[in-house]
Amino acid sequence: MKIKIPGYKLAVLCAAGILAGSVNLKAQTVIPVETSNNAMVLQVAKNKDLNIIYFGKKLNNTQEYSQIPGIYKQSEDYTGLFNSAYTPAGSRNLVEPAISVTHTDGNNSLDLKYVSHDVKKISDGVSLLSIVLKDVVYNFEVTLYYKAYYKNDVVEQWSVIKHHEKGNVTLQKFASANLHIQAKDFWLTQYHGDWAKEMQPEESKLTHGIKTLDTKLGTRANLFQPSVFMISLNKPATEDEGSVLYGGLEWSGNFRTDMELDPQDNLRIISGINNYASPYELKPNVEFATPAFWYTFSTHGKGDASRKLQSWARNYKILDGKGSRVTLLNNWESTYFDFNESKLAELLKDTKKLGVDLFLLDDGWFANKYPRNSDHTGLGDWEENKQKLPNGIASLIKEAQQNEVKFGIWVEPEMVSPKSELYEKHPDWVIKQPKREEYYFRNQLVLDLSNPKVQDFVYGIIDNLFTKNPTLAYIKWDCNAVIYNAYSAHLGKNQSQFYVEYVRGLYKVLERIRAKYPTVPMMLCSGGGGRVDSAALQYFTEFWPSDNTDPLERIFMQWEYSYFYPAITSSNHVTDWGKQPIKYRTDVAMMGKLGFDIVVSKLSATDLQYCQDAIKNYNSFKQVIWQGDQYRLANPREGSVASVMYIDEAKSSGIMFNYLVNNRYDEKSRVPIPLKGLDAAKNYRIREINLYPGSKTNIDGNKTYSGDFLMKIGFNPQVHAGRTSVVLKIDEVR
Ligand code: GLA
Repeated sequence: MKIKIPGYKLAVLCAAGILAGSVNLKAQTVIPVETSNNAMVLQVAKNKDLNIIYFGKKLNNTQEYSQIPGIYKQSEDYTGLFNSAYTPAGSRNLVEPAISVTHTDGNNSLDLKYVSHDVKKISDGVSLLSIVLKDVVYNFEVTLYYKAYYKNDVVEQWSVIKHHEKGNVTLQKFASANLHIQAKDFWLTQYHGDWAKEMQPEESKLTHGIKTLDTKLGTRANLFQPSVFMISLNKPATEDEGSVLYGGLEWSGNFRTDMELDPQDNLRIISGINNYASPYELKPNVEFATPAFWYTFSTHGKGDASRKLQSWARNYKILDGKGSRVTLLNNWESTYFDFNESKLAELLKDTKKLGVDLFLLDDGWFANKYPRNSDHTGLGDWEENKQKLPNGIASLIKEAQQNEVKFGIWVEPEMVSPKSELYEKHPDWVIKQPKREEYYFRNQLVLDLSNPKVQDFVYGIIDNLFTKNPTLAYIKWDCNAVIYNAYSAHLGKNQSQFYVEYVRGLYKVLERIRAKYPTVPMMLCSGGGGRVDSAALQYFTEFWPSDNTDPLERIFMQWEYSYFYPAITSSNHVTDWGKQPIKYRTDVAMMGKLGFDIVVSKLSATDLQYCQDAIKNYNSFKQVIWQGDQYRLANPREGSVASVMYIDEAKSSGIMFNYLVNNRYDEKSRVPIPLKGLDAAKNYRIREINLYPGSKTNIDGNKTYSGDFLMKIGFNPQVHAGRTSVVLKIDEVR
């Protein structure tokens, strides 16, 4: 029997299967989760275990999946569980479990058996497979979900856990997904970082045992490590070659991903909420839904995988992913906390002069009893500071309107300063150990979002701002502290629920905000990129990759972020960080969502002219950067020149950014850089833009090249010490 669902094919095969280690003549149910290029194939074993028998490129004939296990002659799996689709603990299992529980009677065992499965079409090209598993002894069940996005080769996987026992069951571990992959070798690319050093890649061969990527920071959970990773199969994948899986967890709190190379040399990936300090008490008949783990897979290298992922993110994940964005001028680095109405009035004029859409007022505008004049005070007291802003935000917005620019504002609503009226009024809203000394991160503490009253308060901050100022056009939502001394006065004896309930509380607030203000742009900031993930981006239109805006650093950082997030989400600001000229800084910031955080009035006349022209140029091709396909052409880690291009869907209009990333003597682009993603049969003209006033280019913009030539031979942007940043516009000649 074969069921075909448009857009996403799920075949249920009842075949006489030849299974690993044994010849099995009984009917086996095979459930392939297929997308346009790939398959993850599940099989119900004779004993009703649900196993994974294949992960990789899909086969032409789905009937053949059941033959795969028979041709592997690996060592014995004594447990029959190494390739479990959701490994239960405490029965036959000998490896890392996906789920581990303590039943009402104190028993720790679980053995999950297949009961049924179902598939639903969600929309064109999106289907949802659900598989019910039940324990044979305890009244305990898990439903596994596989949401397949056919065209993008992306699958989201999660589980829903429930039971009907008499009393609470403790979930000791409760993963979202469990994968099982067979290959000769596995190479992991993971990321680490710290403030101003986000997204530093490391690649290593996985050896036997378990490699864990995790965080225990509670908020801004990615500060040291994000959940995103890549696994290359057989050998390290390159930009255009090799088999590579990308994965990440849709959870803005503690996560844990275990990668276990098992005794049979296969890779087991188990990802979910971190169970650290979090044994979860699950009441009877209540569902515990884990967050989704997403993955994509390509046999054509990292570039292909990232383009599929970026397209998926724009189409299905990011808030307003297909929409537009605003360019802006931010005042953080030009004023810090030191501003008043007249200073801001000047900055509003500068916003207009520069030619960006919006002025973003940063930290320091609020609190009166403990004015926010430094990062030691005032967080939590969200009334305008009367000394700095005697006429309130409303008058600033009016002033912005007179200058024909929009107005946005910074908030850090989850936080509280020890010196604040909020702390004085509601000490029980603050996360801290009652009997221990307070310990601060950036001189502040975190509010207890597991408490519904705190959720109301945080929602109210945003709601009040919009209610009082309906034309407020942008929010920068910051989150600068991690959680120390995790303790919630609200949760009392249920402290082990805390880390999970914090994130749920945060999402509840964001849901409410988006229900009332569906599309107003919001930047997800976290003293840098300590927070971005695919769950948070469902509520935010963009994120702040790092406080480090040195353009040289940003070339490397944005390169790595771009594997996982499309350019439209990357807020890149031109600042005074770094030693590069304004052109270099602006060109780098253009590879995403452009903004500025500089003192416009201090720019030289030509620097200002350059910026104004560059913004006009950006406005003319930003859609290609935001919605087009990104191709990484020259890796800054592998040579002296970095090069990235974006091309529209029609392959007729593109833009190529090129930078010198090595200042040693005579470093330059010696050889042409092959372009990618063009139409070989089309002809193109390449013209240099973003030229600094008064400078000339040797590039002859009237020459025509075929796509074939540009992709096979390439183009030399003529980058050298005298031309450290070169932006090229690629246009089809008809
Ligand atoms: C964080 C952000 C900065 C700025 C400051 C304000 O560090 O990353 O952009 O908003 O907070 O305090």
